[in-house]
This record gives sequence, structure tokens and C-alpha cells, in this order.
Amino acid sequence: MHHIAILTSIAVLAGALGSQSLKGQTLRDVAGDRLRIGAALMARDLDNPRYADLLATQLNCVTPENELKGDATQPAPGRFSFERADKIVDFAQRHQMKVIGHTLLWHQQSPRWLFETPDGKPLPREIALANLRERITTMLTHYRGKIAGWDVVNEALSDSPNEYLRDTPARRAIGDDYIIQAFRIAQEADPDVELYYNDYNIELPYKHAKAMRLLRELKDAGVRVDAVGVQGHWQLGSPSVKEIDDSIKAFASLDIRVMITELDVDVLPRQRSGADLSATEEGANPYVNGLPADVAEKQAERYRAIFDMLGKHIREGTITRVTFWGLTDGQSWLNGFPVRGRTNHPLLWDRDYQPKPAFDAALESLRSTMTK
Ligand code: XIL
Repeated sequence: MHHIAILTSIAVLAGALGSQSLKGQTLRDVAGDRLRIGAALMARDLDNPRYADLLATQLNCVTPENELKGDATQPAPGRFSFERADKIVDFAQRHQMKVIGHTLLWHQQSPRWLFETPDGKPLPREIALANLRERITTMLTHYRGKIAGWDVVNEALSDSPNEYLRDTPARRAIGDDYIIQAFRIAQEADPDVELYYNDYNIELPYKHAKAMRLLRELKDAGVRVDAVGVQGHWQLGSPSVKEIDDSIKAFASLDIRVMITELDVDVLPRQRSGADLSATEEGANPYVNGLPADVAEKQAERYRAIFDMLGKHIREGTITRVTFWGLTDGQSWLNGFPVRGRTNHPLLWDRDYQPKPAFDAALESLRSTMTK
């Protein structure tokens, strides 16, 4: 009797494992301690146990998708709200996952009063700096020891060919040194936390030189930048793997680490690359009833090529984190950007939480990187 019971459980277990991709191996298993592999999530996603299970099984790192942004954390002058972000941090701690803070300073999803008067004029520099200091110091103090690293400044570089820095409320109030100031304040507030500069399209030639210039200027000013975050909102056909590879090598030459911080592979037609939230478009919506097998295969090969290229940088210690911007296709922000109301399929798991061909490709590639 006893033996039969054991044999039966072994058979059931083997069957269960066999039905999963690559015998149930997870990205988290394969990454081990050498790579942070993460996803962005919203606090409300955690109310769904299937979502929470998949997240904790597959990944070792999370980024709150909106909960740490200015508008979420500073509802009114002098008031901070941490509840929704704390829920994510508690979950991460229970599952031994790292947390990444996104973001301390960004021109989007940020309260106007931080850097502007009620009638939209820039605040005097000293007042704007005091507001920036209050924000950064309060956030870093609350999350000391709980958040491993922060996107101190997000998307400060301009998309226009003749302009270096983006025109933002913080820059208008404080001046061109506002990025240096933000890093300096952060470093003083918590000398142990990692500090990142994060942006989109900085792997593309039109913006890469500006990112190199900014990182050099920060270095010359004596502030610490631990890593540059390449967002990685990519498409099936662009950017080329070589462009990404070249930009990582160039960043590494500045003695700085590189993280892919918001990876997704858009499969829908769009006009502009990157993630400029103010640039919305019209566009077709061809895959409402599911991703056709040939497109799913193309996407898998794209993920494989990206992970194969990252492999060398992971082994050399240049790439220390890869974070997907969401877990399943149903939750992806690309269902609403740059065209509202489409059905997109940019991630490794589909709307039913099932692994896609892209998952197998990423897992196989990462496994071969980690066993080399
Ligand atoms: C996006 C979120 O995913 C959406 O839920 C929100 O409505 C808008 O912002 N670059 C970033 C992220 O740095 O903060 C953005 O996240 C996506 C582009």
C-alpha cells in the first residue's frame, strides 16, 4: 500500500512537472544570486493569488509600477502616503525579493506644486530645492533597508535633436544642475542605497550621446551613480541587438553598471519608438483574439536574441538586473499606450497566466548564460 502511494505521488508529480515549460524551471531558479530578474507590478495585482504566486515563483525582484511616483506618494503639500507601496514591499520581503524604487524625480505623474506656483510659474530655486530635498529624504528614510536602489531621476534627456536636457518643471525652477542636486540629496539621505539614472531610447544613437554626457557630468560633479537604467520598451524589429549591445559597452566604459529596467516587446504597429507618455497615436489592433503562432514565435526569437546578447554582459557583471514592465500580457501598460484600448501581447505570460514561447526562449537563453 505504502509503496503504491509513493509511486502514485511520484507519477503525479512527474506529470505536473512535465506539463510545465522546461520541467518547471523558473527564471528565479536560473538567475540565482547573480542576477536580479524582476517585474513591475501594481499593489492591486497582489489581491489575485494566481498573479502573486507566479510573481514570487518566477522572479526575485519587483518594481512598484506607479505606487512610488510623486502623485501617488505626495497627495498634498506636507503629506506623504506610503500605504500602497508598503503593501508591495511587505509582499517582497515575505518572498525574499528585492524592491526597486521608481521614481524620485520625473516630469510625469508628479504634483505640480513641487516646482510650480498655483498659476504655473516656476517656484524660486531655494523653495524648489527644499521641496525636492523633503521628497527625496522622506522617501529614502521611510524605505531605508527595504528598497535596494532608486531611479533617482527618470527621463531627463530631451528627444529633440538640438536640445540636451528636457524642459521640465524641476529644471525651470532649479536650473540645469537639478539632476546633480537630486543625486547629491539622495546620497546624503541614504549612503547605502543604490542610485540610478533611468531613461528610454538611450541605446539609440540620437539619445545615447546625451546619456553619456549626463553620466560624465554627474561623475565630474562627484556624485555617485551606481547604474544607468535602459528602459527597454522595444519592438519586434527595433532597436537592433547591435545597437543595444554597443550602448551597453559604451556605458560600461564609464565604469557604470547597466540595468534593463522596463523590458517589453511590443507586437502591435506603432509610429514612434520609446515611451514618451505625451505622444499618443492612432494604430491598428490586429490581435484582439490572441497572438497568432507565427508572431508569438517571432517574439520568442526576439527575446532569445536580446537575452543571448545580454548574457555576455551578465557574465562580465555589467548587467546586474533585468526587469519586465509587467508580468502577464493582460496587465501591460502597452494595452493603453501609445494607442488607447488595444490588445497587446508584449510579455512572457499570456492573459491566462500561461507561459508563452517567449518565456521558454528567455529561460533557455538565461540558463545557458548562467551555466557557462
Ligand atoms: C507607466 C505605467 O506602466 C502606467 O500604468 C502609467 O499609467 C503610466 O506610466 N516609462 C516609465 C514608467 O518610466 O513609469 C511608465 O509606466 C512607462 C514608461
